[in-house]
Amino acid sequence: MKKIWIIHNSEHGNSEKISKQLAEGLKDGYEVSVGSIRNTNPEDIAKDEPYGLIIAVRIIAFSSDKEMRKFVSNLNDVITQPISKVAYFATHALGWKKFFIKGMKKTLEKVGCVEEICPEYLEVRMQGAEGPAVEGADAKIEEYISTLKEFLK
Ligand SMILES: Cc1cc2nc3c(=O)[nH]c(=O)nc-3n(C[C@H](O)[C@H](O)[C@H](O)COP(=O)(O)O)c2cc1C
Repeated sequence: MKKIWIIHNSEHGNSEKISKQLAEGLKDGYEVSVGSIRNTNPEDIAKDEPYGLIIAVRIIAFSSDKEMRKFVSNLNDVITQPISKVAYFATHALGWKKFFIKGMKKTLEKVGCVEEICPEYLEVRMQGAEGPAVEGADAKIEEYISTLKEFLK
């Protein structure tokens, strides 16, 4: 089975929970690992030569989590085999603004280790910084799992 890594930098558990939901949805077709960048090194991912990478992006101070952007840049430095398919999703607590995610999009477009970026991203709003997600989030996540399955083909 093709390998997929899902990485997050979760502090309050919101993006970790969604990462696990996506992993559950994909596990029939892929070998999926979920890890926090707080205890996963870019080398851990590079050595698996993953087919896919899914990135959980926390929106912090109106912007994509800078620690995650840095991790992706560091991953680019150690990767030996380009990653065929990359997707990302955001968790946030305010009304959604497209510019929140611009930074991650820019980082991915800049790094050489990424072949194809999923044109559709998921954004899930939380009721507050510590969650839980707003009503309807689970249906949105399920729908995104279908989008991912199509993209990963
Ligand atoms: C310091 C801090 C700053 C935040 N800034 C924003 C923000 O500018 N816009 C927004 O929509 N959400 C903001 N949030 C909410 C987070 O994006 C949201 O809580 C996210 O789901 C956290 O992910 P986690 O539970 O995986 O740590 C902020 C949260 C924290 C803790």
